[in-house]
Amino acid sequence: MSDFIHSKFVQEMCDITANMYRQGWDERNGGNISYMIDEEFVREYFPEDKFIRDIPAGFVAHECLRGKYFLVTGTGKYFKNVKGDPETNLGLVKISEDGETAHLLWGYKDGGRFTSEFPAHLMSHAVRYQINPKNRIIMHTHPTYTICMGACLPTDEKIFTRKLWKSNTEAVVVFPEGVGVLPCMICGTTEIGEATAEKMKQHRIVTWTNHGIYGAGETIDEAFGLIETVEKTAQIYMLTLGHVVNEIPDEVVIGLAKLWNLKMMEGVIGE
Ligand code: 13P
Ligand code: ZN
Repeated sequence: MSDFIHSKFVQEMCDITANMYRQGWDERNGGNISYMIDEEFVREYFPEDKFIRDIPAGFVAHECLRGKYFLVTGTGKYFKNVKGDPETNLGLVKISEDGETAHLLWGYKDGGRFTSEFPAHLMSHAVRYQINPKNRIIMHTHPTYTICMGACLPTDEKIFTRKLWKSNTEAVVVFPEGVGVLPCMICGTTEIGEATAEKMKQHRIVTWTNHGIYGAGETIDEAFGLIETVEKTAQIYMLTLGHVVNEIPDEVVIGLAKLWNLKMMEGVIGE
C-alpha cells in the first residue's frame, strides 16, 4: 500500500491548482475543487475506513452521494500552496449515510475543513452525477475576463452564451449547451448551492456574476478545459468590446454545431 499523498488524485490536484494559480484566477484563497474518487481506488490506499475526525457538512447531501469519497480543497487555503503541502491544503472525506457529516480520512492536517463552497460543490455533483454517472469533478475559480464580461452584460444566459459563441469559433463546439448565469448572490451559502445546481441541470458551466465560474467534468482536464475556453473567449470579447468589425456570423455558429453533430442551446442564435 503506497501513501495517498503519492496517488494520481493528489498529484492531479497539485498540478491543476498550481496551473490555475499561474493563470491569475485564484488570488489568495480564491477557488475550490472537489474530486469524487471511486471506492475501489480509495481502497488501494485505505484498505478500510479509519476516520481522523468528523466534520459537519452544514447541509444534507443528496442520497446519490452518501458513502462517496471526495478529495476537496480546504477553506481559506491558497491554490499556490497546495503543491508544497497537499496534506494541509487538501482533505479526503467520505459522506456519511445520513448525508449530514463528512468523515475525514486524510488531510486538513492543521485542523482545517473543506471549502466554504462545499454545498455548491456537492449539490452540483449530485445533479451532474445523475445526468452522467462518469462525472467526477466540480471546479470553481475566479477568471478575470469572465468576471469582467458578466459585469458588462445583463444576467441573461442566452445573451451571455450568444456573445461567447459569436466571439470565438471554438465556443459553440466546446459548450453547445451554453453557459448558465447566476446573478450576484451571497457565496458560501446553501441558497447559491441550490441555484448553481439548478443551472447544472442544463449546463456544465455556470457563472456567478461579480464572482467567478463553476465547471463540471468527467476529468480535471474536461472541467478545466470548459472554464479556460469560456475565459479565453471572454478575454477576446472584452479586448474587442466596442471595436468589433468581424463578428462570427450566425450561419457559421450553426454550421459548426452541425459539423460536430452538437445539440445547441435553444433561443440563442437566429431569433
Ligand atoms: P474557500 O477558501 O472557502 O474555498 O472559498 C474561496 C472562494 O472562492 C469562495 O467562493
Ligand atoms: Zn469563489
